[in-house]
Amino acid sequence: MNRPGILVTGGTGYIGSHTTVELIKAGYHVVIIDNLSNSNVAVLDGIEAITGVRPDFVEADCTDIKALRALFEQYTDIKGIINFAASKAVGESVQKPLLYYRNNLNTLMNLLECMSEYKVDGIVFSSSCTVYGEPDDNPVTENSPIKPATSPYGNTKQISEEIIEDVIHSGAPFKSVILRYFNPVGAHPSALIGELPNGVPQNLIPYLTQTAIGIRKELAVFGDDYNTPDGSCIRDFINVVDLAKAHVTAVERLIEDKCATPVEIFNLGTGNGVSVLELINTFEEATGVKVPYRIAPRREGDIEKVWANPTHANEVLGWVADTPLADTMRSAWKWQLALREKGIM
Ligand code: UD1
Repeated sequence: MNRPGILVTGGTGYIGSHTTVELIKAGYHVVIIDNLSNSNVAVLDGIEAITGVRPDFVEADCTDIKALRALFEQYTDIKGIINFAASKAVGESVQKPLLYYRNNLNTLMNLLECMSEYKVDGIVFSSSCTVYGEPDDNPVTENSPIKPATSPYGNTKQISEEIIEDVIHSGAPFKSVILRYFNPVGAHPSALIGELPNGVPQNLIPYLTQTAIGIRKELAVFGDDYNTPDGSCIRDFINVVDLAKAHVTAVERLIEDKCATPVEIFNLGTGNGVSVLELINTFEEATGVKVPYRIAPRREGDIEKVWANPTHANEVLGWVADTPLADTMRSAWKWQLALREKGIM
């Protein structure tokens, strides 16, 4: 298959690496740009081991437009971009707002500028269910109200969506698919790639698997007094490989000119709300490994409950997130074991 090039920004990161695998499997030429600020170049070995193909790799920062232009001069077959390059820690964004606005917004604006210059057909943008804030009703559809952002990180996602809308509305010669992720979890079933957080994990699953393997003493469950059946928060945990596959379909719509509107928006979730305590239970049952945990105070800024109505993505993209949660938990555990075997953690 001789398919065009896709630029994957942040391609050595968690979701970027899984998406790169699916793009290569679908026959695309993948060029990754990553500044390695929150990932490791060895991820390329994992991608190559799974697919038999090593993606082209440029170590550079997308906020550097000269580096981006040089990349487009070198790889003239790029027809689509998938933009994962962004800072994503909610707490850190409150401490360092300028870092978040600079990284996330300048990256996007530079890419949009280059798209006109180098005739790129479309951009897939990684957005988040964070744009819905604390929803009035669940599950949320793409038409559910956008709520004021509660962190600079969340605000960068809202502003980025608006920038894309405005630039395309102004007549830019490309289209965009905005994907609003719920909570991506798990790892590739091969355990050759997965999530590799720097330092103490902020997100639930890496903290959980690091606790299960003994790196952390116990998992703090942030709050058991929410208005939910068991009192813990509810999320829509989506398998990262399922999530990655949606990107292949999305970028295909852009470069094959199949989009119904110049900007399309899709929720990527399973449609099932699962509580933090239920998730711990599913992990324990799926792996046979106990997770020591204690109930801790609520974490500031947490949403009580949010899960997706994924019907729009199911119908229009012909995509469904159907990996059972138990399989996803086993994949996360297998990845944690592989990290120990490799001596990484
Ligand atoms: C947050 C952001 C999301 C962002 C994601 C990635 C919001 C509303 N959500 O998701 O946009 O893409 O981070 O960084 O801003 N939990 C514990 N103990 C822990 C860790 C987490 O109980 O040690 C609980 C949290 O309270 C939450 C759930 O687990 O209820 C999921 O937390 P987390 O994995 O951090 O993701 P979100 O906060 O949902």
